[in-house]
Amino acid sequence: MHRAKDRDPDTGERSGNLLVSSDPSSVCLNCHAGPGGGESISVYSPDGSAMTPGGDFYWLTKTFTWNGGASLGDSHGHNVIAVDFNLSEELRLSQSPGGSYQSGDLGCTSCHDPHGRSRGGTRLGRPPVSVSGSYGETPATSTGSGSYRLLGDAGYSGGGRAARQFLFSYDSPVARQNTANRFGESDGSHVDYGTGMSEWCGNCHESILRDNHAGGGDFTHPSGSSEMLGSEMVSMYNTYISTGDLTASTTGTGTGDIATAYLQFVPFERGTGDPQQLNPTSRRGPNTNSRIMCLTCHRAHSSAFRAIGRWDFDAPLLADSHPAPGDGGLAGNDVQHSYYGRNVPAEFGQDQGQFCEKCHGLTLGMEETGEEPILEPSPNPLPDPGMQQLQRVDPILQYPFKRRK
Ligand code: HEC
Ligand code: HEC
Ligand code: HEC
Ligand code: HEC
Ligand code: HEC
Repeated sequence: MHRAKDRDPDTGERSGNLLVSSDPSSVCLNCHAGPGGGESISVYSPDGSAMTPGGDFYWLTKTFTWNGGASLGDSHGHNVIAVDFNLSEELRLSQSPGGSYQSGDLGCTSCHDPHGRSRGGTRLGRPPVSVSGSYGETPATSTGSGSYRLLGDAGYSGGGRAARQFLFSYDSPVARQNTANRFGESDGSHVDYGTGMSEWCGNCHESILRDNHAGGGDFTHPSGSSEMLGSEMVSMYNTYISTGDLTASTTGTGTGDIATAYLQFVPFERGTGDPQQLNPTSRRGPNTNSRIMCLTCHRAHSSAFRAIGRWDFDAPLLADSHPAPGDGGLAGNDVQHSYYGRNVPAEFGQDQGQFCEKCHGLTLGMEETGEEPILEPSPNPLPDPGMQQLQRVDPILQYPFKRRK
């Protein structure tokens, strides 16, 4: 028998034998590594081109350095162990922060149930799976749909060696992806998240979920299926275009209108367990039924930024994000790929602050100048264009975590 890491002596290609690899994740990557693209199933590209909702494990291999700072490859994602693909264990964190999953056990099957079963499958009396659970399809009579992205349900063992001790407590989340762009993400075509994502992450990050992000670094924040945005944040999200620009669009791409307010960098849960009510091509912003979740700020696999941020948490102005031109470790199109092909300073302005502002309206970057202007959300979700925004200083909202340079 030959192993998947063996090269064909004639072509130099990887062996086509998918069954024998050094570890479970290497088996998956035999098919799931390669150039990215909206219809590519790759989640591990050679160049950061797999701009999927979950993100590209490529970033684990990229450490960026600059004068006085660094952003470590290990901190960019979940370090899945796939020795045939040179992906190895996380050395900074020995287990899941806020939980007890061992980093040495982490692989694709820690999170994805390779059998795609829902709640233990037919063995436990569940109907057989006839359709994917990722696209809102309706299963045929007396069959069921799989879980979203084959994610493990309550009772799942967490794969591999961890199976001996580990059991998930929370079910897989409800979400729906666009069948026409199955592995891509943009404002107009994105996973529409329904409910349960934060709880699902809580399978391995329990205290972060239950206790205001406790154990997840120097930061406090609620997230979960019951963490409503509330009407002020809903209005802010729906009127916010960019720093200092809430309604009339000069530099931003939005219109300050709930119908087009959705921003791929700041997703939220719509608060429904029914995939039929989710619409992955909708650009509608949140309403008062919407919730904040872990993936509002993080990606599930990997990103170009520390702590798997959807944006660079260490850059008060996003124009100062890393990777940046001139950084050590930079290759090819890393800068463009880091923000999913969008040029943030060009699109949102040089003064664009942290995307936390989409809900909080706080101009975090201006804190340093001592000005601290805060934009007040409009009381009306559909304000008159050009309406004057009040300014005030909110003492509670401070930039709450330390910058690590
Ligand atoms: C023989 C090639 C192959 C192997 C090996 C493989 N996959 Fe896949 N996988 C695919 C293809 C092709 C699709 C796209 C199916 C579709 O959407 O029609 C896919 C889809 C998926 C999806 C999305 C499914 C959905 O309905 O949303 C996930 C998640 C996934 N694979 C995970 C894994 C994991 C984890 C492993 C290893 C345990 C693995 N795959 C091994 C080929 C493979
Ligand atoms: C099967 C267990 C498991 C699940 C489920 C899980 N994680 Fe993790 N997570 C880990 C482990 C183990 C680590 C530490 C090792 C590492 O970072 O690779 C970790 C680390 C992290 C980190 C820190 C990364 C770094 O290197 O600084 C973040 C952020 C994170 N997880 C977020 C999430 C989010 C968001 C979800 C849900 C989409 C999630 N995790 C689901 C096991 C899990
Ligand atoms: C820490 C948990 C975790 C690990 C480890 C993990 N995944 Fe995922 N994966 C997810 C989640 C959650 C999603 C859904 C992301 C979303 O929709 O935002 C996902 C989505 C996907 C998708 C759909 C495309 C995308 O990126 O959104 C594929 C394919 C996939 N995973 C394959 C893999 C493979 C292959 C591995 C191992 C190399 C892996 N995953 C490791 C949690 C994980
Ligand atoms: C409002 C944005 C936001 C939400 C929501 C959020 N996080 Fe975080 N998370 C952050 C930031 C910012 C950091 C970096 C904190 C720091 O610098 O210490 C972080 C750090 C982490 C870390 C890394 C800790 C370490 O020691 O490296 C983990 C793990 C993590 N978050 C998991 C989660 C999980 C799981 C959820 C959902 C239950 C979640 N986060 C929800 C913003 C968020
Ligand atoms: C999708 C909307 C959303 C985004 C984006 C968001 N937040 Fe929040 N934030 C909330 C909600 C909801 C609450 C809870 C409000 C409440 O309890 O009244 C909250 C509360 C807070 C609090 C008070 C926390 C506490 O422990 O009491 C701080 C500080 C905060 N957010 C900072 C941030 C920072 C920093 C970011 C970006 C890294 C961020 N938020 C991104 C919605 C959001």
